[in-house]
Amino acid sequence: MSLTLELGFPVVRARRVRSKRSLRDLTAETSLSIERFVLPLFVNEQAERSEPIDSMPGVLRYSLNSLVDKVGDAVDKGLRAFLLFGIPSKKDELASGAYAEKGVVQKSINRLVETFGDKVIILADTCLCEYTSHGHCGVVKEGKVDNDESLKLLAKTAVSQAAAGADIVSPSAMMDGQVKVIREALDDAGLKDTLIMSYSAKYASCFYGPFRVAADSKPQFGDRKTYQMDPRNRREALREVKLDAQEGADILMVKPAMPYLDVLLDVRNEFCLPLAAYQVSGEYLMIKAASSLGYLDEKSAVLESLYSISRAGADIIISYYSDRLASWMNE
Ligand code: PBG
Repeated sequence: MSLTLELGFPVVRARRVRSKRSLRDLTAETSLSIERFVLPLFVNEQAERSEPIDSMPGVLRYSLNSLVDKVGDAVDKGLRAFLLFGIPSKKDELASGAYAEKGVVQKSINRLVETFGDKVIILADTCLCEYTSHGHCGVVKEGKVDNDESLKLLAKTAVSQAAAGADIVSPSAMMDGQVKVIREALDDAGLKDTLIMSYSAKYASCFYGPFRVAADSKPQFGDRKTYQMDPRNRREALREVKLDAQEGADILMVKPAMPYLDVLLDVRNEFCLPLAAYQVSGEYLMIKAASSLGYLDEKSAVLESLYSISRAGADIIISYYSDRLASWMNE
């Protein structure tokens, strides 16, 4: 019996599309374009030159001067967007380095704006954990993180980053109401054009471990489970995202990326705002470590991971592999 008789309709031969690389590219449902990638960068206020990070082989902590060189190279390869994290020379209880006019991120932004002008999009991570002596993302009172006291400092931090020239501020502290107070503070300061990319669904994840070594922001006591989300929860993410959207976020974010593709898809389906996904330090390290042992092909693993994140619905991808991706695309 022929297949047509058995099925009642002629079988379409999918292999015609699969036969040629250019045909597969033409019909692929997902493609990666470098304009949509953000490269996170660590700047160490004290450093004289760039230095390796033990927990993240291949990623560096930059000095102010080497930061400018790094961004210059990346821009030449086609990257445009850079997310800055600062490591201040001094930490204190109230994270004063986060909102100092000449803080490490503020100085970095000044330098990048002077050097690259409109060629770059500068994003600043708006959080306190790299700047507090205790390593928490907010103000600690009687052993606990005080949400409302923290909001005031987060708003101050965002305004100082925007005033220095950041295009996008990116609140990552997961304090309730942070998007609202930041939007109001920016507007009051006349910074109406500054966008907010909110870490809306940010899980309490072990995959941030390597970052905390890189940014020297490990909490000195307790953990972040009281303000970050429980990995067992999916619907809660929609509640968190909805609040951020109502408070005025311009871009939403899900973080980490690969372990939370279901959440990414849910947010994609429920909201119309641009959506970012953060492939975090632990996701980077897993690919890096496995490929350095020779058991994974690094480029294939990176591309497949980025396709999965894009396929699940991310418009914007933040990845420590963004610059390698740009190089591969130029090959
Ligand atoms: C600051 C912040 C963290 C990350 C981004 N912003 C650390 C944390 O919440 O502990 C993690 C990013 C990564 O792991 O690459 N709060």
